[in-house]
Amino acid sequence: MSHIEQIPPELTWRIRRQVLYPDQEFGKAILDNDDDGMHLGLFYENKLISVVSLFRKENEMQLRKFATIEEYQGKGFGTELLKYLIEIAETENCKRIWCNARKNASGFYVKFGFTETDKAYHKDGHDFMIMEKILF
Ligand SMILES: CC(C)(COP(=O)(O)OP(=O)(O)OC[C@H]1O[C@@H](n2cnc3c(N)ncnc32)[C@H](O)[C@@H]1OP(=O)(O)O)[C@@H](O)C(=O)NCCC(=O)NCCS
Repeated sequence: MSHIEQIPPELTWRIRRQVLYPDQEFGKAILDNDDDGMHLGLFYENKLISVVSLFRKENEMQLRKFATIEEYQGKGFGTELLKYLIEIAETENCKRIWCNARKNASGFYVKFGFTETDKAYHKDGHDFMIMEKILF
């Protein structure tokens, strides 16, 4: 059984670090503006296994630091979280959801109607591209 809850930012840090920044210091997993975001956690059998953070600015929602613990990846948990956050963005009348996607994860977002913009860059050893989903 899985369920999604809003969680405090501190609960995202361990999974962010483990999945996204395994070779870097713990502080890399902490965002300066974490207190301004909405953080969602997916629990499977009462264990937190996937996290994502949402930052709203005007009519746009930025999705950041999406991570599923490695042994739980590819089992549909990210899909549950992504669908949930798209519903939140729609309910809140956002016009656009966007993210700085790691290039090797772009296929995940494409499945849910995100498209690549022409903005791409390289940072911390990864290729990124801005991906967006227009809601209305
Ligand atoms: C990307 C991520 C958050 C997705 O979470 P998840 O729990 O693995 O997602 P799901 O199991 O729901 O996957 C949904 C679909 O996307 C696919 N998918 C997952 N990760 C993918 C990737 N990196 N590239 C392409 N497709 C991917 C899955 O195969 C699955 O396809 P299917 O429905 O045809 O079987 C997770 O794989 C992850 O943490 N990856 C490492 C960190 C990362 O890259 N985060 C994103 C930074 S932008």
